[in-house]
Amino acid sequence: MKRTLRSRSWFETPELYGWLRRAALRSEGLTEAAYEGKPIIGIGNSWSELTHCNAHLRPLAEAVKRGVWQAGGCPLEFPVLSLGEFNMKPTTMLFRNLMSMDVEETIRANPLDGVVLLCGCDKTTPAMLMGAASADVPAIILTGGPQLSAHWRGETLGSCTDCRRYQMELLAGRITSEDWHDLQGAIIRSPGHCMVMGTASTMACLAEALGMALPHTAAIPAVDSRRLQLAEEAGRQIVELTLQDIRPSRIMTRPAFDNAIRVLHALGGSTNAVIHLVALAGRLGFDLPLDRFDELARSTPVLLDVKPVGRHLMEDFFYAGGLPALLQELAPLLHLDAMTVTGRTLGENIAAAKRYDAEVIRSFDNPVCNEGGLAVLRGSLCPRGAILKTAAASPELLRHRGRAVVFSSVDEMQRRLDDPDLNIEPGDVLVLQNAGPLGAPGMPEAGFLPLPTRLLRQGVRDMVRISDARMSGTAFGTVVVHVCPEAAAGGPLALVRTGDVIELDVPNRRLDLLVDEAELARRRSAWKPPPPPYHRGYGWLFQKHVLQADQGCDFDFLRAAPPGS
Ligand code: FES
Repeated sequence: MKRTLRSRSWFETPELYGWLRRAALRSEGLTEAAYEGKPIIGIGNSWSELTHCNAHLRPLAEAVKRGVWQAGGCPLEFPVLSLGEFNMKPTTMLFRNLMSMDVEETIRANPLDGVVLLCGCDKTTPAMLMGAASADVPAIILTGGPQLSAHWRGETLGSCTDCRRYQMELLAGRITSEDWHDLQGAIIRSPGHCMVMGTASTMACLAEALGMALPHTAAIPAVDSRRLQLAEEAGRQIVELTLQDIRPSRIMTRPAFDNAIRVLHALGGSTNAVIHLVALAGRLGFDLPLDRFDELARSTPVLLDVKPVGRHLMEDFFYAGGLPALLQELAPLLHLDAMTVTGRTLGENIAAAKRYDAEVIRSFDNPVCNEGGLAVLRGSLCPRGAILKTAAASPELLRHRGRAVVFSSVDEMQRRLDDPDLNIEPGDVLVLQNAGPLGAPGMPEAGFLPLPTRLLRQGVRDMVRISDARMSGTAFGTVVVHVCPEAAAGGPLALVRTGDVIELDVPNRRLDLLVDEAELARRRSAWKPPPPPYHRGYGWLFQKHVLQADQGCDFDFLRAAPPGS
């Protein structure tokens, strides 16, 4: 044994409770031979039938257990809060921090020497990473893998990029409601998370790029037997990692975050990842300014041709070589000496990686885009930043000046968007207020504002849309999100009125409200914050402690304590 195991202090105590804990394990059929002198490995499982993306995680947990036994550990599985993107109201983002607290405190409070954390759907992976970072015991992230590609009427489709595309076709009258219903049965073809480069796939790739997941974790399809084999390997490896005491704080260092940001750009990944990476860095004790994302975007091309930015799907990515092959293409830009959960460096992990399809994983001389997929905007409308997924935007709208059409809430937007009296033209800029962390509350994925049906029927498929909300990683269009400070916190977004002129200038990273300062001052003095929606319970805690988007929307009290405190 190379270290004193943390779990010993639960069992090797003369008090009654040491005896009782052993009795409790015997009640589960585990004799001392099962755990004496062995690391106890927790398997944190976000399995839930309410989270369809994670509903297949039980067999994966069994495979992890096999691996733990093989390597001389003792596995104990535990449930954690699960966050299902489709079911939870008002938004899963309201509960990401709660899930991270569940993960952290369950690890902290129990006799666990190391953990394997099973996740998949959008918020479950960042919540697991954040909980692991705060608990800081050896940990491996094991995502459940993407769904198989969907096939419908001769077309290969991805959830939910193509759900959104076909919804526009339905509203435009180009498919029937029968077609729409038929598509519903075909679009999610297997267990697993959304198989485009949405938030779930992006976060799975970033967990691997950060060094917190075994090579190939991100892209092996959920139902491919190689994922079960990988789970078994994760079980074996966590025992080794635990014995070597390689903790998340040794893996998720600043250079590892730079690697993750590079990979985010090269993937054309989800805007949500910016919020999650910033929050995760805060748990580890350092700031990750938005400007770092922009700085690295300038020298990182988009290399992955996967929807919504490209043409292919996660299954194709796996057959093309998966994340190790993409990392190898990116190698000149990466910190290859970063430590990973294999106990080896990132460079060692990818040394033998091979790319099998140069159309899916591009090279530097044939990128999808020359610059990274995301841009950080600043300006009078967003003094603390805003994000635009440039790779999924319409090139002709990247410089645009237009008249604002303002909705003061998600409800108002849904009520008025198709009102025949709404005065709106294709060149206008749709603005949504009060959809940020405090405003909505919880910062829902409302930033992909639907286009008015009248304009869809005219053939319009994109307009500039601006909000303090988030956007699903599966969405596309010229959509500016995460405007900070948000409207409900008194940011300039709260002062925009219909008819104002807004200028978007992505090449110069600007977003400005072209209204003179005297008028803005008048509006500011008349502004009142919206009434808080919660008066008790978790919602009250959330609104009292949530930080703004540029700080990752974590709770102020969950960030790492300053050294020495
Ligand atoms: Fe779970 Fe898309 S709904 S990843």
